[in-house]
Amino acid sequence: MTILPSKASFPKSNSLATEEVLKPDLCQVIQGLRSQPLTWPLIILLSLLPKNPTQLEKQLQYSEKGRYFWMPLFSNPFGEVLLCFWSVNSDSRSHDHFQSLAFVIVLIGKISQKLLHVSANKLFIFEQQELKELSVGVIPAYQAHRIQNFSQDWAISVHLYFPRRKSIELAIDED
Ligand SMILES: [Fe+2]
Repeated sequence: MTILPSKASFPKSNSLATEEVLKPDLCQVIQGLRSQPLTWPLIILLSLLPKNPTQLEKQLQYSEKGRYFWMPLFSNPFGEVLLCFWSVNSDSRSHDHFQSLAFVIVLIGKISQKLLHVSANKLFIFEQQELKELSVGVIPAYQAHRIQNFSQDWAISVHLYFPRRKSIELAIDED
């Protein structure tokens, strides 16, 4: 079941757009979601987002390289939770999470995940997954992965790490 608003009220992001274009687009999309019929993924998302639009905008952080936004929700040495907002054609690049076990749960839209392993200093894809709403991607500790949004709409996912990652910098970053 999809909870995406109708095309008329769900602006698509331009694949060449910058942060200045994408951010208001994302905020508009989130505002649009607030008036959609409630479903479980939407209830979860709305319970995690700041109610105040100004607060929401302030907390959004942007990855220029990956063209996605993220928002920290919770962090202590035992775990970390954040939201990711994937614009059209956004790309996390290939990375790992040091020793942290990670879970990715899609709340809006769909994303593609590649699980990777490293051999002779090269990355190999050993599994590719299409994650739809409420799909859970599991990334074992030391596992590398890459998330991309090949769809024509924004996608939103919640990410959990146990324990907290040693760094938020990407550990692997292929060209
Ligand atoms: Fe990751």
